[in-house]
Amino acid sequence: MGGRLAGKTCLVTGAGQGLGAAIARAFAAEGGRVAVCDIDGDKAAAVATAIGEAASAYELDVRDEAAWAAVVVAVEAWGGAVGVLVNNAGIDAEGLIEDGDVALWRRVVDTNLTSVFIGMSVCVESMRRAGGGAIINMSSVAGLVGFPTRAAYVACKWGVRGLTKTAALELGRYGIRVNSLHPGPIRTPMTEHYPPETFRDQAIDRFGEAEEIGRMAVFIAAEATYSTASEFIADGGVMAGRAMHD
Ligand SMILES: NC(=O)c1ccc[n+]([C@@H]2O[C@H](COP(=O)([O-])OP(=O)(O)OC[C@H]3O[C@@H](n4cnc5c(N)ncnc54)[C@H](O)[C@@H]3O)[C@@H](O)[C@H]2O)c1
Repeated sequence: MGGRLAGKTCLVTGAGQGLGAAIARAFAAEGGRVAVCDIDGDKAAAVATAIGEAASAYELDVRDEAAWAAVVVAVEAWGGAVGVLVNNAGIDAEGLIEDGDVALWRRVVDTNLTSVFIGMSVCVESMRRAGGGAIINMSSVAGLVGFPTRAAYVACKWGVRGLTKTAALELGRYGIRVNSLHPGPIRTPMTEHYPPETFRDQAIDRFGEAEEIGRMAVFIAAEATYSTASEFIADGGVMAGRAMHD
């Protein structure tokens, strides 16, 4: 099958729904073989089944280093060395700094930031065997500014941005590009409760759709061959609006 990701094995975390599922579908539509990974194995299986032969499902808790190692072995056996890695899995969580909920902080950091470090470190060897590749780390507009009530989430998304730049510098010599993706509000199960006012200050005053992020991920993985350590923003212009009002 042709396509911009033909012959590439792509591992996507948190791909049981939302952005990860859309990215998995977009990669498969471009000829990629997609390892659909999620902590919820049933959801991963449903997404992989809907994609068809080009996809395979794996239950993976991204906080678990040993599970990562086992999944990469299984993915290689299924589809060959990993050429594209998308560290997408993440959770949202609300809480004020003054509440001092350290357990919540640790849960968010483990899931949204430490997981990205583990995922990259475990996949490097496989990506080297693939002859290089592309890593996309899911940050957010919350990795560009602050948001009240979201200290842990924001700290993780800024952390992902810095980790991405460092990884790009370390892994360039292996032909591995590493970039961060920064969506604004995209319609997924994580955000469906957002009120209409959310879009008030945006140049494009609507939710983004997960497919729009899927297409951007294809671009970063397949077309952006001179981009590494870069921030790819898809936010409907929300950051420009913030700058005006701040
Ligand atoms: N939706 C948005 O507006 C938006 C904006 C910016 C950034 N993001 C980021 O994009 C990513 C995906 O967001 P989404 O909106 O699709 O969320 P979502 O909640 O709809 O989906 C997240 C998926 O990750 C999985 N997951 C959660 N914890 C996991 C773990 N420990 N291991 C493996 N999988 C796990 C869930 O089972 C779920 O399938 C997240 O990192 C999120 O922070 C989302």
